Amino acid sequence: MINEIIRLREKAKQAGEPVLRDKSFELLLDTVKKEKPKKILEIGVNLGLSGIAMLISEPNASLSGIEIDEEKIKLAKDNYKKFGVFDRAKIFQGDASEIIPVLTGEYDFIFLDGPKGHYYEYLPNLLSVLSVGGTLFADNVLFRGYVLGSVKTPHRFNTTKHSMENFLNAISTDPNLSTKLYEMEDGVSITKKIK
Ligand SMILES: C[S@@+](CC[C@H](N)C(=O)[O-])C[C@H]1O[C@@H](n2cnc3c(N)ncnc32)[C@H](O)[C@@H]1O
Repeated sequence: MINEIIRLREKAKQAGEPVLRDKSFELLLDTVKKEKPKKILEIGVNLGLSGIAMLISEPNASLSGIEIDEEKIKLAKDNYKKFGVFDRAKIFQGDASEIIPVLTGEYDFIFLDGPKGHYYEYLPNLLSVLSVGGTLFADNVLFRGYVLGSVKTPHRFNTTKHSMENFLNAISTDPNLSTKLYEMEDGVSITKKIK
C-alpha cells in the first residue's frame, strides 16, 4: 500500500502539488512509527497522502485534518476511501486560523503543514491541544533557505520569514518543550511537549 502512496506522491509532484519532500516524508513516518500516536491532527491536508501513510503506519490511530480548499477535500476523501482509512479520518473544512482556536480534545501528534506564515500564530492553540508527551512535527521551518540560511529573502517573503523565525525561537526556548531541528530539504522541526 505504501508503494501505491509513493506512486501517487510522484504523480502529485508532477502535477505541481505541494507534496511533502521525500526525506521529510520518511522522517514523518519514522516518527509516527516510533511515537505510536492515537489521535493525529494534520494542518493542511492537500490530497491526503501523508495522512493516509500515517494511518497505514499506525493502525490504531485516527486523523483529523484541516483544509481550506474544497476541491482538495473531495480528492483527499476519495483517497481515504481508496486506501480503506475513511472511517478513521475526518476533515474540518475552512481556514486553519479560525478552526485551530476552537479545537477541542487532545491530540498526541500534530503535523503542521499549512500556510507557512501562520505557524507562530497557531502555536499557542496547538500546544494547548497537544497532550503532554505528544509530538508537534512541522514542515518547511527553514522556508526555502530564508530562515537561518544565507539565501537572500525577497521582500515579499519577509513577513513569512520573520513569523517562521518567531515560531522556531518559541519552540526552541520554551522550557515545556524539547525540539530538534532537521536542516534538510525545506527544514523540519520535531517538538515534544515534555510538561
Ligand atoms: C503542503 S500542502 C499539505 C500537504 C499534506 N500535508 C501532505 O503532506 O500530503 C498545504 C495545504 O494547506 C492548505 N491550506 C493553505 N492555507 C490554508 C489555510 N489557511 N487553512 C487550511 N488549509 C490551508 C492548502 O490548500 C494545501 O492543501
